[in-house]
Amino acid sequence: MHKVTLIRGDGIGPEITEATLRIIGAAGVKIDWDEVIAGQEAEIKHGMPLPAETKASIARNGVALKGPLTTQVGKGFRSINVALRQEFNLFANFRPVKSFHGIKSLFQDIDIIVIRENTEDLYSGVEHKIGEDAAESIKIITRKASEKIAEYAFNYAVHHGRHKVTAIHKANIMKLSDGLFLESVKTVAERYPQIDCNDLIVDNAAMQLVLNPYQFDIILAPNLYGDILSDLCAGLIGGLGLTPGANIGDGVSIFEPVHGSAPDLAGKKVANPTAMILSAIYLLRYLGEAKAAGRIEKALAAIIREGHFITPDLNGKSSTMEMAEAIIMRME
Ligand code: NAI
Repeated sequence: MHKVTLIRGDGIGPEITEATLRIIGAAGVKIDWDEVIAGQEAEIKHGMPLPAETKASIARNGVALKGPLTTQVGKGFRSINVALRQEFNLFANFRPVKSFHGIKSLFQDIDIIVIRENTEDLYSGVEHKIGEDAAESIKIITRKASEKIAEYAFNYAVHHGRHKVTAIHKANIMKLSDGLFLESVKTVAERYPQIDCNDLIVDNAAMQLVLNPYQFDIILAPNLYGDILSDLCAGLIGGLGLTPGANIGDGVSIFEPVHGSAPDLAGKKVANPTAMILSAIYLLRYLGEAKAAGRIEKALAAIIREGHFITPDLNGKSSTMEMAEAIIMRME
């Protein structure tokens, strides 16, 4: 039996996790969930947002399914999402953005993968106040991490029939840091002549994505730009309720939706479980449960296409659990 760490998360986390666990159970996959807590819940119960037992569980199992964790804006403890990525050197944040048939969104037939460097950049947490009226955040970019994420992206492209990698940067302004990222990507690209490689300045990339997203295949970005552009990409296909993610390291992987804890929806039981279900589908494939993953994926696509049991963010009327139950009923 597989043993997987489970963190239900804050806000809508427990609701979308419960829906996802029911679906995995109905697909017949036996998983021994090693349930631990983090974030606000852990802060309240243990006085620390990332308890040692949570880290130990992830280290022991090497794989986790995680709901979103709340991080307060401008105060409070440092992001536990960022802390986990740094703790386990989960260097790649893999965020596929694929259209579903049946959703009225800005674009149809989008199929873009955002690959985001996940450990450094402005997320390194090196920041301080300078007196009362100034503050400084330090952007860290290293050749090692940049080449590692570029290698991951090109290698992924080769093994998954992808043809193009677009590197995102602002090296016209941050000539040293983003310049180093771009230089590292170009070095790695030389080893993959079969994959097209181009680069775009991030502001132009944002506009190009809205004007003509079909020009993109794999987007390769440092941490901050990857974070922003992956939300933008989610908007192209119908919103954050639809986009899954995986944080990949050497020997440890954490699967989680792109979206956050959505405090505006928490407790209302209407959050879209799709991003969490898709994250779990990637987890199942990682565990070698491709057949069950395929069955869930097919049923999910059918339920969204038919549109009778979808959540309000997709203009439906169903609750999180009604959508999950419909997916279970639809599984072949
Ligand atoms: P958010 O992603 O939680 O919400 C943004 C918007 O998308 C909201 O309107 C929300 O209702 C909607 N949305 C998100 N997920 C949805 C779903 N499954 N179904 C339907 N609608 C959905 O981003 P926000 O509001 O900026 O952040 C809220 C909290 O989440 C913050 O504390 C933030 O730090 C945290 N966060 C955590 C992440 C993680 O755990 N990986 C990632 C992003 C944010």
